[in-house]
Amino acid sequence: MAVILEVKDLVTKFYTLDGVVNAVNGVSFTLDEGETLAVVGESGCGKSVSMMSVMGLISSPPGKVESGEALYYTSQGARDLLKLSANEMNEVRGGQIGFVFQDPQTSLNPILKVGEQISESLMKHLGISARDARLRALELLAEVGISDPELRYNAYPFQMSGGMRQRVMIAIAVACTPRIVIADEPTTALDVTIQAQIVNLLKQLRAKMGVATIWITHDLGLVAGLADRVLVMYGGKIMEAAPVDLLYDNPCHPYTVGLLGALPRLDIHEAKRLVSIDGAPPDATIPINHCPFAWRCIHAFEHCWNENPVLTNVEEAHQVACFHVFEKGG
Ligand SMILES: Nc1ncnc2c1ncn2[C@@H]1O[C@H](COP(=O)(O)OP(=O)(O)OP(=O)(O)O)[C@@H](O)[C@H]1O
Ligand SMILES: [Mg+2]
Repeated sequence: MAVILEVKDLVTKFYTLDGVVNAVNGVSFTLDEGETLAVVGESGCGKSVSMMSVMGLISSPPGKVESGEALYYTSQGARDLLKLSANEMNEVRGGQIGFVFQDPQTSLNPILKVGEQISESLMKHLGISARDARLRALELLAEVGISDPELRYNAYPFQMSGGMRQRVMIAIAVACTPRIVIADEPTTALDVTIQAQIVNLLKQLRAKMGVATIWITHDLGLVAGLADRVLVMYGGKIMEAAPVDLLYDNPCHPYTVGLLGALPRLDIHEAKRLVSIDGAPPDATIPINHCPFAWRCIHAFEHCWNENPVLTNVEEAHQVACFHVFEKGG
């Protein structure tokens, strides 16, 4: 499979009154054509900031993408998304790469009818007429499972339920048949039944359109049926990267093991079901030169406090950033 996106050594910081927040500390990964990549990890580990950096969505100030590359491959060769002008980025975003945000309330325009928001994107990126855009928008509303598209086309976001708004966001994200869709916790604001519907909808669109998807989530349970490959993030770094089956069969990083241990399991008695990892994520304003997980890691030894481990192959296609795994045998 050909690589479509290659992120190398991405570093993003926020310069705030409380200090410099080291949000993303050298993230590297690739995404293949048609692949579904899940990015998991606890709150604040840098999932959203990583993807927003790639998409040119970090507002500066206070944020700054300090270094790195985000190579987007097309038949014409590679373009570094981090070096595009605002106008060039606007063309890529929504056209070739769609983004579904956690909370559609903040990303839909509250004073524009939802149908017009879809039409606008189609006209801007595909250069089609207002009439054709309207027809395509109606089709898209139907495709994302919104009944009575004619009526809904003229609705404002506040007149729709959370699930409906999320469907509209998905319609906008996929409107121009992008090559990549990045979905940032697209279901967290929704109730469980609607969550399942939205997950199925995105799966169907993926199967139909063959888009590569990056799916950001807290929920490792969701990942099993969804992803081809998983990146586990902690403290602004990728701690483990593996195909989904390998990650579940042979989780190596103590943090991944902890996250998997925290998964509710139906086959275990209710009272014992949930365990959580002790401790809290690190304060991102304190620069560190050791493993960010060392404070919470039951296996931490001297080396973990002296150096920050880098991702290293533990088996084919499976990388881990952990001295314990390589020096003490996991
Ligand atoms: N605008 C901002 N100003 C200052 N710090 C920020 C800003 N946005 C994010 N951060 C910080 O960057 C770090 C990474 O945040 P990010 O939003 O990427 O986390 P996340 O993994 O997406 O978490 P969640 O699961 O809660 O969405 C956190 O320490 C966060 O507080
Ligand atoms: Mg986030």
